Parts: sequence; C-alpha cells; structure tokens
Amino acid sequence: MKITKIKALILTVIAGCTCTANAQNLYNAATEAKIDMLLKEMTLEEKVGMIHGNSSFTSAGVKRLNIPELVMSDGPHGVRLEHGRGWDAVPGVNDSGTYLPTGNTLAATWNPQLGYAFGSVLGSEAKFRGKDIILGPGINIMRSPLNGRNFEYLSEDPFLVAQMVVGYIKGVQDQGISACVKHYAANNEETDRGTVDVQMSERALREIYLPGFKAAVELGGVNAVMGSYNKFRGQFATENRYLVKDILKGEWGFKGIVMSDWGAVHNTMDAINNGTDLEMGSDIGTPPLKFNKFYLADTVVSLVKSGQVNVRLIDDKVRRILRVMFKTHMIGSQRTPGAYNTRDHQLVALKVAEEGIVLLKNNDHILPLQKNTIKSIAVIGENANRPNAMGGGSSQVKALYEITPLQGLKNLLGNKVNITYAQGYKIARNAGPDSSMISQAVEAAKRSDAAVIFCGWTHGYDYAKWDDNAYDAEGVDKPNLLMPFGQNELIKAVLQANPKTVVVLMGGGPIDISQWVNHSKAIIEGWYPGMEGGNALAKVIFGEVNPSGKLPMTFPKKLEDSPAHKLGEFPGHNGVVHYNEGIFVGYRYFDTYKVEPQFEFGRGLSYTTFKYSNLQVQQKGTKATAYITIKNTGKVAGAEVVQLYVHEQSPKVERPEKELKAFQKIYLQPGQSKRISLILNKNAFSYYSETQHSWVTDHSKFDILAGSSSRDIRCSKSIAL
Ligand code: BGC
Repeated sequence: MKITKIKALILTVIAGCTCTANAQNLYNAATEAKIDMLLKEMTLEEKVGMIHGNSSFTSAGVKRLNIPELVMSDGPHGVRLEHGRGWDAVPGVNDSGTYLPTGNTLAATWNPQLGYAFGSVLGSEAKFRGKDIILGPGINIMRSPLNGRNFEYLSEDPFLVAQMVVGYIKGVQDQGISACVKHYAANNEETDRGTVDVQMSERALREIYLPGFKAAVELGGVNAVMGSYNKFRGQFATENRYLVKDILKGEWGFKGIVMSDWGAVHNTMDAINNGTDLEMGSDIGTPPLKFNKFYLADTVVSLVKSGQVNVRLIDDKVRRILRVMFKTHMIGSQRTPGAYNTRDHQLVALKVAEEGIVLLKNNDHILPLQKNTIKSIAVIGENANRPNAMGGGSSQVKALYEITPLQGLKNLLGNKVNITYAQGYKIARNAGPDSSMISQAVEAAKRSDAAVIFCGWTHGYDYAKWDDNAYDAEGVDKPNLLMPFGQNELIKAVLQANPKTVVVLMGGGPIDISQWVNHSKAIIEGWYPGMEGGNALAKVIFGEVNPSGKLPMTFPKKLEDSPAHKLGEFPGHNGVVHYNEGIFVGYRYFDTYKVEPQFEFGRGLSYTTFKYSNLQVQQKGTKATAYITIKNTGKVAGAEVVQLYVHEQSPKVERPEKELKAFQKIYLQPGQSKRISLILNKNAFSYYSETQHSWVTDHSKFDILAGSSSRDIRCSKSIAL
C-alpha cells in the first residue's frame, strides 16, 4: 500500500475543485431574480416544454431566451454510450469512456475521499461529453441479496450510504455537472418494480430507507433527485405526496429538480400537485415517442388554460430546472472543459478497485501468492475472461478497455509464471455442470502450483442484447442465492485437486457458498471492479496491494437467513410488499436475532495485523468523541477501516444490537501507530419515535464498540447520556 501515491492521486483528480458545494448554493436571491425575469418572458407552452422529455435523454430549452436543452446520461459508474435522440446506440462516435467499478465496490472501500475522486471522474467525463446531469448515484438500501440492482447500490447500512454518497455527489458537482441521486424511494427490488406497492413502518422509512437521500440533499447539495418506479403506501413514488412534497421538498427543503424515472409518472394531477418537476421516458404508444402526449405535456397546457391548474405550480417546476441550469453554468456563464479517458481517470478506477476488493478468508496465509516461488498457476472460470462493462441495464458503459482478471494476471506475471486458463463453466441459460470443462480445470489445477477460480455472478448472458439480463441486472432479481452454471461442482473438484486454490467471487454481492466454504482456504470478493479490475485483482492476489476493503453488506449462509426472506416478504404478494422486518435490515437483524452470517457486515482481512488500544470516550451532553490508537503490528503496510458501533443498554423501544455510527480508514506502515478521533453526534444515539413523530435520544447507557468488523469488536467503553 503506497500511502503517498494514493494521496497524490486523489489530489491530482480533484485539483482545481473546491470541496465546498453545499445545499444552499442552488438558491440565492440574485439567481431567483434572473429566473423571475425569464419566467415573465416565457409562454405557457415554453414552460410546459421544459417539464417533460423531448427525446430519450433530453428535455427542451427555449432557444429565443438562450435556455438550452437539458441533457442527461446514465449512469452510476460511467457515462453511458450515446443514444442520440432515441434508444439505439449511435455508431461511430467517441463514446468509449472510463468504466469505474460499480457502486458496491466503491462502498466496499469505506473511503469517502475515493467517493469524491470517483464523482470527479464522472463529472469531468460527463462535461466532456456535453451532458448536464449524470443519473447517479444509485443508493437504494440492499434489503435482499437477490435485488438485481444491488451491484449499482452501496450498502445495507444507511450510515455508510450517507457517508459515501456525499463525496460522490460533491465530486460530480464540483465539476459543474449535476448528480441525480436515485431511486427515491423504497425501490429495493426489481420484480414488478413498476407497480409494486411498498408498505413499511414510519420508523423503518426514517431510520433505514431515507438517511442516504437526506444526506444527499442536506450535506451533498445534490441538484437532482430521481423518483422511483414503485408505489409507496399506495401512491407512485415519483408523484408521492408524502415522499416528495412533504419530506423531500418540505422537511428537507430541497430546491432542485425532482425528475421521474423513465416512465414512472402515471397521473398528471398527482405529478403537478405533489412535486414531480420533470417527466422522463414515458413510452407512450409505439415509437416514435409522442412527447406531447406525456403526462406533463399538452394536458398541462389545457389544464392551466381552463383554470384547473394554477400556473404557479408549473412555474415552480421550471424555476427548479432553471436554478440547476444557472448553478451548472448552462445559462449566463461558461463551463470549464471536461476531460475524457485520461490516465488519472483510469488510475481512480484502479484505486477504487484496489481498495474495494475484500479479502474474506485467508487460512494458513495462503495469500498473497508469491511471485518468486510460484512457477505455474491455473486460472479457472468464465468470469476470469469476461468483460462486464456493457451488462446490467441502464448503467452499462462502453469501456475504452477492460482488463479482465485473466489479463490482469498476465500483465502482472509476464512470462515469469506459466498460466493455464480453463473455462470451467459456461455462462448460458440453464447451463449446469459441464464434466469435460470441470475435468480440464481439475487437470490444470493439478499441474499447477496454485489455482485461482473466478466465479460468482454475472449480469446476464449476451450483453449485446438489451434484455438478456439474468442476475445482476436491471428489471430482474436473482431467482435464488445458489451459484449458477454448475460452479459448485467445479469449485469442489478444483479444491480437491489443489488445496492451494483461491476462490474469487465476482458480482453484486452475496452468494450461497455453503457447499464448499469449509474446504476452501482463501476467498476474495472482487465485485464488478471496473476497467482496471483485473490489474487490481492480480495485485491483491500477489500482494502488490494489501487488501483493505470491507463488506458493505452481510453475506448470509443461506437465503432464508436474510430477514425479508425469513419472513417470506420478498418480492411480496399480490402486488404489495410488506417490509415486516422493519428496521432489522442486514446486520441489524443478524446481530439482534443472533443469526450466524457467512461473512459479517464490515468484514475484510488484510495481509497485516492491527492492534486496537486505549479507547477513550469524551462526552459532552448528547455528543461524544471517541479516541483510539491503532497500530500496524505486521510486516507490511496496510489500511484499516476502524468502525464504531453504538449499542444502547436498556432501550425503551426495540433497538438493533448495534449500529454503525462512525468509521475512518487509516493507512499505516509496519510498526506505525496513530491515535484517531471519531465523532458521535446526537444522531448516533437517537432513534425515530413513531409516537412522538421525531428523533428521540434516551437518557440511558450506551456502549461504544470499536472494531475491525461488526463481529470483530476490539475495545468498548460505556457512557451514560
Ligand atoms: C432506470 C434508471 C435510469 C433510467 C434511464 C431506468 O429504467 O431505472 O436508473 O437512469 O432508466 O436510463
């Protein structure tokens, strides 16, 4: 781990940026006055033209007033390929860009500064490509490991989401481009995503599902929010009075644009009254899209003309769009130029992958493999050789290049180590164990000093086809948690053939590994690590990078151990899904109900060891600061994510066993120690009271737990509030 290099890299990427974006700068008196003038000049038709799509990814401007079109692009981990004004990819344009690791990889770094660097790359490339809004980050809570879009999202934990999202948004927006946080709210499954009605307690909403969005608005100063497809308590989320009007725009004072997900508006009056500002993607009839037939198009003109809708409601929507346009230099000032495919951007992709890869198991210290003692290696599995950038749905990216794991190992090992590749399994619909592929893999493993199997999930089958999604993809949830394509049989056979086998899981998170986990010595979670992912994985496997990622979600032993599945509440019944597990999502459930996970939230091993000592907590009223000393007691440099959890001793209401309330990633040379401080403000101790309709802090005793994971608590101290 080269500490100074990381810092230098992040500084290069953010050079010239001010990290001070805040919620207020969307709104200032001078801009409001300019907007008043523009609104006076505009006809009703011109105003309405601005509040609905006029092509697949744009909405209209007003040429005679120098108001440009608003141009949007997916997505969370790269600027999507060009679609022109329709849905088909435009051939022959320069749209192969930087493919960053996916959201779950970013979250696994537990490094908000990398969130900022990540966002800066996106903002800069979006600007270069002439985009105004990047349709990310996606931050829905991972309620179930089956959710097909978990790979785009960040975590099961609202605190981790909130910490990572702010950096990402500021990174994008300091480039003068808008981020659009999505999907607001309670879009936690893809099954029936367009219709499912989500029912949950107020407490679960406030404690689990909203904090990330609240942080995006209040701390990130995000310019745009995308409403989700699903219903919430009976009304579509995008035009939901409670979510949009009362909470987002009311309680949180959001001054930017609420846009619909593509085709998520269903009712003109609800959208007008409840705060949907921009309707996108409503596929009305057969192509070509009839944009004037959108819910927020011609109908609105008639409603205003006939006096059924007050034009001030429309003015407010246009005002919000104009605010964002002023803030992002679309009107009245000049944007700085963006950059595309720079080496610095690729190095951010590499760094996020390096810091996001998680070492889950390393018995007998078989990792890292040693370049100078290993002469031959078997690389097994179709995932070793499969580019992923174009998979998964709307987050697809045309990557300038993508280093697969196999390529990464070749790059690192050159001709010093003999690599034998065996496909092992076939990614195809209904494919089961393939005995000839398995025996080829076994032979390769037997003949080699070590074997590495790349297995796990994939987005789908054929990425050239839009709808060939299967596992980690938009519009589908995984059918179950079992390894597809006969991978269990392959892994078991290879583990037997060569005990020096490293299993690398790829994809959007948890998978059932119970059939062979006890026979494996080393397991790595590799996620979808972006265009430099293969290089990052090779460096981790051979110890050039000391892993420092931590799981942003719990890996259950089996699907039924996950709370939503235990209760039979996924994906719902008869069009309704009841989140009956309430606040007990992820480790909050596993810890409180004493269910043993396969790998716990926050887990991530290192090639070195860290000693935690001398935890002290200074308390002032309802705030506290924890001080702790961390020492690198091993032989190599490394980074540790120090996690602080809070446990209330005798709560008045049901509370989770513990909750993450602070963390910090620190980099230490061998023998080096650092004393760090972590702040616990009032929120760290409070819960949402359904009877008082507000956050409440009990005057009681709390344990402050410092650990290397949620189940590896090293020190604790009690305080009384
Ligand atoms: C997805 C969004 C995406 C939009 C535009 C929708 O289907 O849910 O996340 O931004 O399409 O591509």
